[in-house]
Amino acid sequence: MTVELKKIIEPLLQWYEKEKRDLPWRHTTDPYKILVSEIMLQQTRVETVKEYYLRFMKELPTMEDLANVEEEKLLKLWEGLGYYSRAKNLKKCAQIVVNSKEKTLPSDYKKLTSLPGIGPYAAGSIASIAFGQKTPAIDGNVLRVMTRLYEDEREITLPIVRKHYFDLLQAIMPENTRDFTESLMELGALVCLPNTIPLCEKCPLNSFCQSYHHQTMLNFPTKKKMNERKIEEKTILIFQYQNTYAIQKRPSKGLLASMYEFLWKSPKLTKEEVIQELKKEKIEVEAIEALGEAKQIFSHIKWHMIGYHIIVKKPFKKSLWVTKDELKTKYSLPNAYKKYAKKIGV
Ligand code: ADE
Repeated sequence: MTVELKKIIEPLLQWYEKEKRDLPWRHTTDPYKILVSEIMLQQTRVETVKEYYLRFMKELPTMEDLANVEEEKLLKLWEGLGYYSRAKNLKKCAQIVVNSKEKTLPSDYKKLTSLPGIGPYAAGSIASIAFGQKTPAIDGNVLRVMTRLYEDEREITLPIVRKHYFDLLQAIMPENTRDFTESLMELGALVCLPNTIPLCEKCPLNSFCQSYHHQTMLNFPTKKKMNERKIEEKTILIFQYQNTYAIQKRPSKGLLASMYEFLWKSPKLTKEEVIQELKKEKIEVEAIEALGEAKQIFSHIKWHMIGYHIIVKKPFKKSLWVTKDELKTKYSLPNAYKKYAKKIGV
């Protein structure tokens, strides 16, 4: 059984027309909006992105607005989405675009990939969704669909595998590039599911699918052994003085750059050890409460955390003391810290 790929187009587009989700970025052809949605969607679930996208568009409706936004406000809009370099690159990208002769996002795939934060996937999706270019967007969803279709055992992180499917899909891409790109992603998201039994009975491509034919769907895509993430232990200290909490700004480079955080120490400490440490630092404690353990996974590291809520008798310098309200509206707190903030109603 060989797959004649052209044959997938019609059933796929018909299925998409019937089954597609009503998503906010599907109501626009504005390249700016497509750009923002695709960057948000790269590492974040659709359900999460919806709300962030709508808020972002309300606050920054144009490329100029994004180019001129203050970093603090931008990070606040991105707070909770993770991978914050995406937001910073988006702003850099907007600045380059508004200062260019054309003042609009280029429609050309190669030119798109030369902009900050736009890799081959985003370039393919933006060019095909916003500009009608025949440039497939090869993401994890699409690679899952394709490797199952062909029972392709190759490792999907290999650039040659991406290139292979880019070329194959480009060769058959219909004029309706937008729906074609979105329909493949949608099939991966709704039917050709990862980490569970896919819904092959509902799949418009099942009659072409080699892995369905042999019932080997779960063997594809071939899983690469994950590089073990380095574990970092942290003790999160939420200091409270009256109705204010101590925070500090993270360095401008590296993980969670320029965001705000509660104070912390390494490694994980017991309550007694925290009390000892604070004594050494001459911080007078009125009360201390353990907030339990939590984990946060990033792309290359994992934080194993333990937290404490500590009421102090005097505020200490070096920290910014802010109210709950300010923490909610003004300062961007990464998810790792939010887990603890929530525990004390912040
Ligand atoms: N994932 C990435 N891009 C998407 C899009 N445009 N619609 C739905 N899911 C997506």
